[in-house]
Amino acid sequence: MILRQVKSFVLRAGKITPGQQRAIDNILALHSIGYVSHLVDLNIIFGRDNPKIIEIGFGMGKSTSQMALANPEYDYLGIEVHPPGIGSLLMEIEQYNISNIKVMRHDGVKVIKDMIMDNSIYGFHIFFPDPWHKKRHNKRRIIQAHFIDLLCTKLKPGGYIHLATDWEDYAIWMLDILNSNKRLINTSKTKDYVPRPSQRPETKFEQRGISLGHGVWDLIFKKNI
Ligand SMILES: C[S@@+](CC[C@H](N)C(=O)[O-])C[C@H]1O[C@@H](n2cnc3c(N)ncnc32)[C@H](O)[C@@H]1O
Repeated sequence: MILRQVKSFVLRAGKITPGQQRAIDNILALHSIGYVSHLVDLNIIFGRDNPKIIEIGFGMGKSTSQMALANPEYDYLGIEVHPPGIGSLLMEIEQYNISNIKVMRHDGVKVIKDMIMDNSIYGFHIFFPDPWHKKRHNKRRIIQAHFIDLLCTKLKPGGYIHLATDWEDYAIWMLDILNSNKRLINTSKTKDYVPRPSQRPETKFEQRGISLGHGVWDLIFKKNI
């Protein structure tokens, strides 16, 4: 399968706090997995065979740590490229002594493609991905038909993809792509969006969007059994 080369992110030299930098310097190695170009066994990495959830683009990671704390029976692999966010999630892991999160600092698309075994993942979370709202930038959106197809291949039968956005145009784009994948079933009773489930805490970007008057659209689709 050929995946597009265009990246869904731009690496900016964002401001990093001394605490975030210290966390990266001191504990990144303890709680992270490095990128490798071959498949890995997440059960060995986490030391148990509990269900695995992968989040791409966790931002500052606050909602990730809240979910991991609330669901100790799940293992979370959080992937992000933004150093302040990585440092911030590491600080949360340390502060709350969280043992069911591993962090990766890499392009999530490449990680899924190269490292994740087929039929092995219970859930994928992509919350408030960059909307790339100008028409000529739409190709940078992480949600593309071939990427969703790749996620389906990595999902266990019955596993799920949970997306959320505060851009209506991106919500429609996501719905079209998920609907047209024959391996997925929409869990929405109204056949479109679902209300934010209580197990998904509000994220930082979501709160910013809401304060600007944006709506919020959640989509949860399951892989056919
Ligand atoms: C708009 S922010 C949303 C962050 C967070 N989910 C939230 O709701 O607060 C999108 C994040 O996705 C990250 N991102 C985009 N493409 C990515 C990729 N291919 N791999 C890893 N992270 C990615 C960006 O660095 C950015 O932090």
